[in-house]
Amino acid sequence: MAKILVTGGTGHLGRDLVPALMGSGHDVRLLVRKPQPGRSVEWALGDLATGAGLEDALRGADTVIHAATLSPIARRGMRIVDFFSSPSDVDIEGTRHLLAASRRAGISHFIFVSIVGLEFSTLPYSRVKLAGERLVRDSQLSWSVIRATPFFYLLEQMLGGLRWLPVWPLPTAPANPIDTRDVASYLAEAVSDDRRGMRPEIGGPEILPFSGFARQYRDALGLRRLILPLPVSRRMSLAIGLIEASDRLGERTWKAWLAEQSKQPRPAAVPS
Ligand SMILES: NC(=O)c1ccc[n+]([C@@H]2O[C@H](COP(=O)([O-])OP(=O)(O)OC[C@H]3O[C@@H](n4cnc5c(N)ncnc54)[C@H](OP(=O)(O)O)[C@@H]3O)[C@@H](O)[C@H]2O)c1
Repeated sequence: MAKILVTGGTGHLGRDLVPALMGSGHDVRLLVRKPQPGRSVEWALGDLATGAGLEDALRGADTVIHAATLSPIARRGMRIVDFFSSPSDVDIEGTRHLLAASRRAGISHFIFVSIVGLEFSTLPYSRVKLAGERLVRDSQLSWSVIRATPFFYLLEQMLGGLRWLPVWPLPTAPANPIDTRDVASYLAEAVSDDRRGMRPEIGGPEILPFSGFARQYRDALGLRRLILPLPVSRRMSLAIGLIEASDRLGERTWKAWLAEQSKQPRPAAVPS
């Protein structure tokens, strides 16, 4: 069983990843920015942006799962500024700090969580994330990169931002967003197999026009809104991160996820 340092363990994916790893019998330690009193998992204080605490956090570990990120869009919804810039101190400088510390600590497997279609997207966050991924791929460590499509919570957040509009003009480009639990299971599996490098990409079980996901959302919430399907070029849809992945498919559908939320909303992982 591996001794794993997880970054981003307090985030949306991280909250599903930690139980998945512990359930597989691994020994897990989280790198956290704030103390986590009462948590049943070991944690070490540190900050990727400054590199503080990384050496102690990595002591005794053999595997790293780097799932931390700083995505302003994911934290508080899209704003105009996000089309012009995105901070790099966690995803680029932080990844650089973590790689250097992992090398010194003799980490034998560095697993990086990434996003499908980064090279086609023109969003500044995607550029930053791709630069971080490249640092991992160019490193001397033994690494794996697992790319996933957008998570359901992000889709919910985007569609929630449209609720005040009576008409929703939405692209018909195909997409298959995914449940974070399916990504977490994939990552837990990747710890124990002997593969390395770029792994098969993972997406949700249903590939549908994006407007189709919006329709399911509207119906699940019982809203009366007109959805206006908007054909856009492949280039444009890729540029805004609308993409599908079919190497590996998750199990949980958007419809099932929405039904779960209505019964028991999951608390926000990161306060906005
Ligand atoms: N969201 C998506 O749709 C999506 C799709 C595919 C792949 N991914 C990737 O999956 C991973 C997890 O995404 P997510 O949406 O679950 O992220 P998230 O909910 O935004 O959580 C981000 C995590 O990063 C941590 N973090 C931020 N700044 C940090 C710093 N300076 N030092 C240490 N930790 C820091 C946060 O800790 P705090 O609790 O202290 O803020 C939090 O645990 C990321 O690599 C992301 O790129 C995301």
